Amino acid sequence: MAKVTVPKISARKTRDGADALVMITAYDAPGARAASDAGIDMILVGDSVAMVVLGYDDTLQVTVDDIAHHTRAVARAKPDCLIVGDLPWMSYHVSVEETVRNAAELIRAGAQCVKLEGGRKRLPMIEALIDAEMPVMGHIGLTPQSVHAMGGFKVQGRQAEAAMELIEDAKALQHAGCFAIVLEGIPVKVAEAITEAIDIPTIGIGAGPHCDGQVLVYHDVLGIEDRFIPKFVRRYADMKTATIDALSSYADDVRSGAFPNDDESYHLADDQAEAFGLYGSAGPDIEQGS
Ligand code: KIV
Repeated sequence: MAKVTVPKISARKTRDGADALVMITAYDAPGARAASDAGIDMILVGDSVAMVVLGYDDTLQVTVDDIAHHTRAVARAKPDCLIVGDLPWMSYHVSVEETVRNAAELIRAGAQCVKLEGGRKRLPMIEALIDAEMPVMGHIGLTPQSVHAMGGFKVQGRQAEAAMELIEDAKALQHAGCFAIVLEGIPVKVAEAITEAIDIPTIGIGAGPHCDGQVLVYHDVLGIEDRFIPKFVRRYADMKTATIDALSSYADDVRSGAFPNDDESYHLADDQAEAFGLYGSAGPDIEQGS
């Protein structure tokens, strides 16, 4: 697969016959290589790393340095996928200048574009980023960085008026120059209407089947954790069970002496084994300088 670029993504509307876009989060080189080998279009180095890798209860704890660190790991794998660096909470809220500097950190770390959460109130930041040649992916609906303002991770746009606001947000983000928009945690009909209303692709997560693409979190798709499974997640593997089985077998084999076996051990060549034997079972006599 050739390297996926921002212009290739921004042109992909399913209503024009394009294949649905596929995005997955990844936070390290093996994950990025797997996504690339699977033909995934985009890797999001998401702030979800806070919850699925770093053990936090929400995404508010990670910093630009954290996302840059994980972006560098993903970029080292040189995936064909477009790499999207997620701007964490407080990296684009204080000023336009700080926003541009923080986004540049992620681009220098290896992302080809950045994503940020929020609608019309983010327009000055989005315009400044695009002005500085950094492509921006929008993200509206259930925006996890607003967890406290929303009173929890709650589906958004359930009321007609709120749904209309989301459509206006999407149009404004498109007008500002975003090349795609993530729609998270919104009713199917609202996501469908947004997707119809704009010419850039929508990428859904908990937003139903009518978006131009879908995104899921790597650890959810692979079943690496089973503590909490959101309604919109489909598990394609049960890596938690597979991992525990494998680690238990390893522990059993070590304890029983079945690991390592002869094939898993290094051996001296015959002549060296013979010479070594001449020193006796204790090996060379260091005292004599042998
Ligand atoms: O960080 C993340 O994983 C995200 C997705 C949920 C879209 O922002």
